[in-house]
Amino acid sequence: MQIPASSCPAASYYVLMATRLDVRNLTVELPTQSGWVRPVNEVSFVLDEAETLGIVGESGSGKTMLSLALMGLEPPGARRKGQVWLHERDSAADKRGINVLAASPSEMRALRGREIAMIFQEPMTALNPVMRVGAQIEEAIRVHENRPNQNQIHSRAIQSLERAALSDPKLRARQYPHQLSGGLRQRVMIAMALAAGPGILIADEPSTALDVTVQKQILELLAKLRKELRLSLLFITHDLGVVAQVADRIIVMYAGRIVEEGPTMEVLRHPRHPYTEGLLRAAPHLERGKLVPIPGTVPALNALPSGCAFAPRCPYHVTECDAAVPDNRPADSNHRARCILVSCAQPMTMN
Ligand SMILES: Nc1ncnc2c1ncn2[C@@H]1O[C@H](COP(=O)(O)OP(=O)(O)OP(=O)(O)O)[C@@H](O)[C@H]1O
Ligand code: SF4
Ligand SMILES: [Mg+2]
Repeated sequence: MQIPASSCPAASYYVLMATRLDVRNLTVELPTQSGWVRPVNEVSFVLDEAETLGIVGESGSGKTMLSLALMGLEPPGARRKGQVWLHERDSAADKRGINVLAASPSEMRALRGREIAMIFQEPMTALNPVMRVGAQIEEAIRVHENRPNQNQIHSRAIQSLERAALSDPKLRARQYPHQLSGGLRQRVMIAMALAAGPGILIADEPSTALDVTVQKQILELLAKLRKELRLSLLFITHDLGVVAQVADRIIVMYAGRIVEEGPTMEVLRHPRHPYTEGLLRAAPHLERGKLVPIPGTVPALNALPSGCAFAPRCPYHVTECDAAVPDNRPADSNHRARCILVSCAQPMTMN
């Protein structure tokens, strides 16, 4: 498909990109006692072939809800709006793909695992504690087979464990999740997610619960698999240090909305939204000076300010910020931020 090479109005040329996921105005609404709330609010982005897109934001910013909505796994009673176009591998560039939001439950079951898969922060939530891990991986493969051949499925499950760099995969296949360490369980999750050969992988904080050494190994494994399998990776984390290592581009979320997006190094070196600037000042791996936490907390979804949601915590706040939710404005080529101070011609100055 064609997308503008630059978000700035001056740039009108186009480049050809192989889009895997095209998310347009995705909104998730949840019923609460005080009415409907929107943990994901008009989110739009494109994930390209073999690209890693990092999604960052504090706890409660909507990262997991966004991933669950893409997988059709949002909580019961939730409403999804917008469009999510999923392009199968090798599909013609001009084909629109499948709108995940309009897929039937059986179509969604066929897509999940085969086209798009997810790994979670805590693998125990996704693994069945009373089933051997090999059998769970076989199950993930069998769902997509019309005429399952048990021997072939077993071999593919062992291959998946091998691919996820588990030593002695035949032994591991016979073990139960509780017999494995946290790092090995996460490798099993990765093996299971990739067993049916998806082109898109959503990794929701895949290394957060692990110690630093194991975290590094999991990140290296994901980077290797991404390269080998040409995976498109949606990498979710609250750790800007991690996202700096893995992502080509970054989306920053706040209170359900995208507040900044752009190439990783551009966003980390020249943040254009005060929230991103605050995250950077509070990031232990990136900030060289004194760490400064962002004052206050993420607002409750049923009590969002009328204008900019970050206003109560923003050091640059002016009255105009409260008039309406700011647009996601072009700040530079391929770089946007949802702040009234941002303009293409006049970059915002931050100390
Ligand atoms: N089942 C639910 N019902 C009502 N609100 C929910 C439900 N699940 C999540 N939320 C709310 O949706 C918002 C977004 O939650 P989400 O779990 O997506 O955040 P997150 O960015 O993944 O945070 P974390 O970094 O802690 O994982 C939060 O305000 C949360 O309280
Ligand atoms: S719009 Fe205003 S309150 Fe919001 S981030 Fe920008 S300066 Fe801060
Ligand atoms: Mg989460």
